[in-house]
Amino acid sequence: MSSNDKYGVDQDPYCYRGTGTLKNLLDLHDEDDLNEAERYLTEAAAERLEFIEPPYSLDTLKQIHRTLFSAIYSWAGEIRTVKISKGGNQFCVPDRIEPEAAREFRKVESNGWFEGYSRDLLLKAVAESYSTLNVAHPFREGNGRAQRMLFEWIIINAGYEINWWEVDKQEWIKANHQSFHGDDGPLIQIFDRCIGLPIMEDNADDA
Ligand SMILES: Nc1ncnc2c1ncn2[C@@H]1O[C@H](COP(=O)(O)OP(=O)(O)OP(=O)(O)O)[C@@H](O)[C@H]1O
Ligand SMILES: [Mg+2]
Repeated sequence: MSSNDKYGVDQDPYCYRGTGTLKNLLDLHDEDDLNEAERYLTEAAAERLEFIEPPYSLDTLKQIHRTLFSAIYSWAGEIRTVKISKGGNQFCVPDRIEPEAAREFRKVESNGWFEGYSRDLLLKAVAESYSTLNVAHPFREGNGRAQRMLFEWIIINAGYEINWWEVDKQEWIKANHQSFHGDDGPLIQIFDRCIGLPIMEDNADDA
C-alpha cells in the first residue's frame, strides 16, 4: 500500500490499529513482509485462474480477486466498505461501486465485448473501460492485479495477445492518474505496447 493512501475514517478498520498495514490472515504486521507474501501468493494463485469467456460482470472480477487473495485477506472477493483515494484521487464511494461497475459491464457487453475490433479501436476501448473500472476500485486492495487479469481475458477473447512485461510501475500509475482526470492517451500508449498481434486460429485440425 502506498503512503499516499488516505481513508475516509480516522482508523481504517481494514488496518492494524494505529498503522497503515492491512490486517491479514498471515498476521504479518510488517509492510515489507506482507508485500512479499502478497506477491508470492498472488502469483501462485494466478496459475490456478483459467481463462473464461464472456459474459463478464462485477461477479467475475470478485471471483478473480477471491482466487488471488483468499490466502491473504478474509475479505477477498468482497466490495470494500471504506472510502479510499490514491495520489489525491478519490475512488467511488462504496455505495456507488456496484451501480458504476454494472453500468460499465453493460456498456462493454453492448459493444460485443470488443470482438471484431481493429487493434486501434481495441486499444482505445480497453483503456477507457479499464479507467472506468479503476475509478470504481471495488476492493480495499488488489484492484490492479484483479483488473489486469480480467482485461487479459477481454483482450484474449477479442482475439489479441497480451503481456504486461513492458509496463513500468510508475508509468502505469501515472497513466492511471491521468486517465482518472479524463486523458486516456498515456494508458492507450501502454496498451499499444502490451497488446500484440491477433491470435491466429489453430489450423492443426485441417491438416
Ligand atoms: N493516483 C492514482 N490515480 C488513479 N489510479 C491510480 C492511482 N495510483 C494507482 N492507481 C491505480 O490503482 C491500482 C492499484 O490499486 P491497488 O493497490 O488496489 O491494487 P494492486 O493490485 O496492488 O495494484 P498494482 O499491482 O498495480 O500495484 C493501480 O494498478 C492503478 O491502476
Ligand atoms: Mg496495491
